[in-house]
Amino acid sequence: MTPQITYILGIETSCDETAAAVVRRHGGGRGELLSNVVLSQLKDHAPFGGVVPEIAARVHVTHLDGLVGRAMAEAGIEFDALHGVAATAGPGLLGGLLVGLTAGKAISMAWDIPFLAINHLEGHALTPRLLADCPFPYLLLLISGGHTQFQLVEGVGRYKRLGTTIDDALGEAFDKVAKLLGLGYPGGPRVESYAKRGDNKRFDFPRPLKGRADCNFSFSGLKTAVREVVHGLGELTEQDVADVCASFELAVAETLADRLKRAFQQFREMHPDVESPTLVVAGGVAANQTLRGVFETVSNRHGFKLNVPPFNLCTDNAAMIAWAGAERLSLGLTDNIDFAARPRWPLDNVSAPVYGSGRLGAKA
Ligand code: KG4
Ligand code: ZN
Repeated sequence: MTPQITYILGIETSCDETAAAVVRRHGGGRGELLSNVVLSQLKDHAPFGGVVPEIAARVHVTHLDGLVGRAMAEAGIEFDALHGVAATAGPGLLGGLLVGLTAGKAISMAWDIPFLAINHLEGHALTPRLLADCPFPYLLLLISGGHTQFQLVEGVGRYKRLGTTIDDALGEAFDKVAKLLGLGYPGGPRVESYAKRGDNKRFDFPRPLKGRADCNFSFSGLKTAVREVVHGLGELTEQDVADVCASFELAVAETLADRLKRAFQQFREMHPDVESPTLVVAGGVAANQTLRGVFETVSNRHGFKLNVPPFNLCTDNAAMIAWAGAERLSLGLTDNIDFAARPRWPLDNVSAPVYGSGRLGAKA
């Protein structure tokens, strides 16, 4: 039987953040974050304009030990106080996953504590429950560099994908637009800051899949439309860059608003009993202030409560992995030490893979 209070160490190495964290879970389900250490590898990958898998794996190897030590020290506990160790087993880059999994398994064996192999997407999905009461079921919109999907979160290990991108992930679209404009990597924050100074009506970019009955996304046509406009402009002034960013951001905002309306409708059809449902938004793109405004307005209009975890828990971190581990341990869902890394691992095993949905097997 699981004790009333559990301490879980989490490890995240699926892409370009090396991270370790410790959480405490109380018997009633309340969570506490005791430490959360993240080393971003941005500067290692920036010269290449994107994440280089081999470099990522090597940086994880160099730093993970030290980060685990720091996370334990900041939490103020010794290894013998841990009730379990959780590591991301997928989806993500194989080299990085192997580093984190091996470390997690070694700690589990050395201290004779349960091992928990975590789906990174489950980490994102359960994060709001670490911070506050957030009862199942709720609607999750995950918008990161590698994924753009709606998930119906019905319980720990119980997910239904309502929609996904059929080509690029949203963060990827921001990054590609930034690259076209020569703004560097990662592009999202730079596109956002230029957009603040731009005219969002100057270019009429498409709103992909607007009005469609499903809950899917598509961003590659929008990216192509931006490319055509940029090439047509020739030499870009600062104002051109700002106007392209603002017009792109408006197209994304209106697309998300349309897709959200559809997902709200589907949620209501599937759970007519939930009076005041919640929309949780996670992933790096959730940092965008304009988009946050849209989530707020659309949620209010449709009677949904909005829950966006703080930025450092929206982007990749190990607290979400530790917390998913704590939730799984409380239900006895532990894993064997021979659990293999799964570079491709959909959260919802029932949904068929959608061709071209984001950078498959890469960032989550
Ligand atoms: O969740 P995340 O940190 O990493 C994973 O992809 O797992 O998300 C990173 C993505 C990048 O594509 C980045 O450009 C985007 O989130 N991003 C933003 C903003 N901040 C980060 N996109 C739009 N606006 C932002 N302020
Ligand atoms: Zn992620």
